Amino acid sequence: MDGNGRWATRRFLPRTAGHVRGVQAVRKVVESCGRRGVEFLTLFAFSSENWRRPKDEVSLLMKLFMQTLEKEVDQLVEQGVRLRVVGDLAAFEPRLQGLIHSAQEKTAHNTRLNLTIAANYGGRWDILNAMRSVLRTQPELLRDPEKLDETVLAPHLSMAFAPEPDLFIRTGGEQRISNFLVWQLAYTELYFTPDYWPDFGDSQLEAAFEWYRGRERRFGRTSDQLTPASN
Ligand code: IPE
Ligand code: MG
Repeated sequence: MDGNGRWATRRFLPRTAGHVRGVQAVRKVVESCGRRGVEFLTLFAFSSENWRRPKDEVSLLMKLFMQTLEKEVDQLVEQGVRLRVVGDLAAFEPRLQGLIHSAQEKTAHNTRLNLTIAANYGGRWDILNAMRSVLRTQPELLRDPEKLDETVLAPHLSMAFAPEPDLFIRTGGEQRISNFLVWQLAYTELYFTPDYWPDFGDSQLEAAFEWYRGRERRFGRTSDQLTPASN
């Protein structure tokens, strides 16, 4: 979700106004994904690098995060949304950690849409964290490192509960991953749009899906191998 600041600056508004509108866009997109039958939606809300922003902006983002968790949980329950938050949550203030915990609990039985918020998340952090967890739980692998393969590591990643993403959408015009799900995006279709996040909604989502429908996912195979007759 990129472009909140520029959306606001263009309107001679403070950047924070862009973040407030960004939350409204989240609401729209969650609702739209639920309606369209999307099973997993993961939003990159705050990267481990975002702490470098001015103090005021960071604290507004934290405040917005808390307010939204408090205000929206009932709505999520109503929509059948299960909320999870992934990232290094220990860095957040205890009140925010508590709100995250209780929102996860309250929505734990929902099955319609799995909404994951990546907060204080970094893809490299995720892989390192998974490695540490492997070493802690299977120290015997140190004697036989050849046994460490993708199937050993993947269950320790923070998104282990979800399939790898089919589609990645970045708003705001930059064409990079910026340390999002670096392991899981290996075969994901990457979609970049100049739209700023606050302007992203149902019709922009439809445009992304339309683009995705035109992609051919080969996973390293040739085009011919994908047609059932030639398999
Ligand atoms: C994304 O919008 C929101 C967060 C990272 C929280 P930005 O704040 O990065 O907006 P720009 O890139 O400055 O326009
Ligand atoms: Mg940005």
